[in-house]
Amino acid sequence: MQRCDVLASCTEEPGAITRPFATDSLQRAQDHVRGWMEEAGMTVTRDNIGNLRARYPGTGDALLLLGSHLDSVRDAGRYDGPLGVMVAIAAVQQLHDAGRRLPFAIEVLAFADEEGLRFGATYLGSRSVAGRLGDDDLRRTDAGGLTMADAISAFGGDPARIGDDRWRDDRPLGYVEVHIEQGPVLEQLGLPVGVVSAINGQSRYDLTFTGVAGHAGTVPMEQRRDALVAAALFVTVVDHHEPGLVSTVGKLSVRPGAANVIPGEVSLTLDVRSPRDEQRAEWCAKFLGVAEEIGRRRNVGVTIAPISERAAVPCSPRMTALLKQAIGETAVEVPSGAGHDGVYMSELTDIGMLFVRCKGGISHNPAESVETTDVAMAIDVLGRFLELLAQE
Ligand code: GLV
Ligand code: MN
Ligand code: MN
Repeated sequence: MQRCDVLASCTEEPGAITRPFATDSLQRAQDHVRGWMEEAGMTVTRDNIGNLRARYPGTGDALLLLGSHLDSVRDAGRYDGPLGVMVAIAAVQQLHDAGRRLPFAIEVLAFADEEGLRFGATYLGSRSVAGRLGDDDLRRTDAGGLTMADAISAFGGDPARIGDDRWRDDRPLGYVEVHIEQGPVLEQLGLPVGVVSAINGQSRYDLTFTGVAGHAGTVPMEQRRDALVAAALFVTVVDHHEPGLVSTVGKLSVRPGAANVIPGEVSLTLDVRSPRDEQRAEWCAKFLGVAEEIGRRRNVGVTIAPISERAAVPCSPRMTALLKQAIGETAVEVPSGAGHDGVYMSELTDIGMLFVRCKGGISHNPAESVETTDVAMAIDVLGRFLELLAQE
C-alpha cells in the first residue's frame, strides 16, 4: 500500500495522478519498481517499448508470467495497474525471504502502457510482447505532435527493434494478473477477492465532425454548420441503455474553441464494450451509421477512424480453477468490464486474473480505494496459487 502511495507521487500533473507512457513520471515510477524487484531477488531488464521484465529463477525450465501496468489515465487513482505489479512483487518477495525456488521461474512484467492515454492506441506494453505493435502504431502522434517512435527513443528504447520485444521463448505456463475490480460486484457480495471469468470485448474509434467556423454574433442560426451541435446529438445517441452494452464518448475537442466562434470542427472518441461480440458489433455499426446520418442532416462532414477492436477474451479454465482453489470455499467468478493486459497475453499463453474488491466500484478516478486487509488476502491467494501450480 505504501508502495502504491510512492508511485502515486510519480505524475506529470502536480496534485493529480497522470502517468502516461514514456514520460519522466513513468521513468521515476520504474526506478522505484526496479529497486523493489531487485530487493525481491529478481533480475530486471527493460525491453524496447519500455516494459520492466523481472526474473526470479526456478529449479526447472518452465516459466510463469505475472504482471500489470504502471501507466495511468488522466487524474487517476493509485491502484489501477500498480497494485497488480506490487502484489506480484510481494508474492515473489515471500519466496525470496524463505529462500525458496519453485519448479518454474517467475517473470514479473510491469507494462509501460495499458491505458493508451498518450497515443490513443492502447495496450502498447502487452502488444509489444505479443508481437502485435505495428508501424501504424509507431507513426501515431501525441498531443505535442511527437511520434510514438520518437517517444520510444527518448525513453531509451529502439523503435526499429520493437520486434525483439516479442515473446520468443517456450510457451509460458500462464499469465496471471491481480487487479482492482473497478466495479461493485465483490463489494455487493461482501468478498475481498474474486476470479475473473472473461474480459469484455472493446472497440474504439476517433470521429471528426467538420462544419464551418463563423462569427457567433452575426451568422443566422439557419445558416450555421455547427460541428459541436452535430457532435452533441451524437453523444446523446451513444448514451444508449441496454443490458450488457456500455458506450462512452470520453474525449472531445472543439476547434477553434472560443466563446464567440461557431465550432468548425469537433473530434471525439467512441468506446463500445460488451461481453457479447455480436452485440458490440451491432451497436458499433448503429452508432457510426447514426453519426453519418446526423452529419447529412446538419450539413456537417463526418470522418470515422477505427482505433482498436478486441473480441471478448475468456480466462483459461486451468488458471481459473487453480485461482479458485487458492481462494477456497468463497471463490466466485466475476466478468471484467475493463480491459486488461491479459487480452494480448492470451495470444501467448493461458491467462488468469484475480480481482480485489474496491470501494464503491470506483476507478479511473482519484477516489479509487482498496482495503489493506483485502490486498493482504490477494498476496496470500497468489502465494497459494504458486504453491498449487508448483505441485502440478
Ligand atoms: C482500461 O482501463 C480500460 O478498460 O479502458
Ligand atoms: Mn485503467
Ligand atoms: Mn488497469
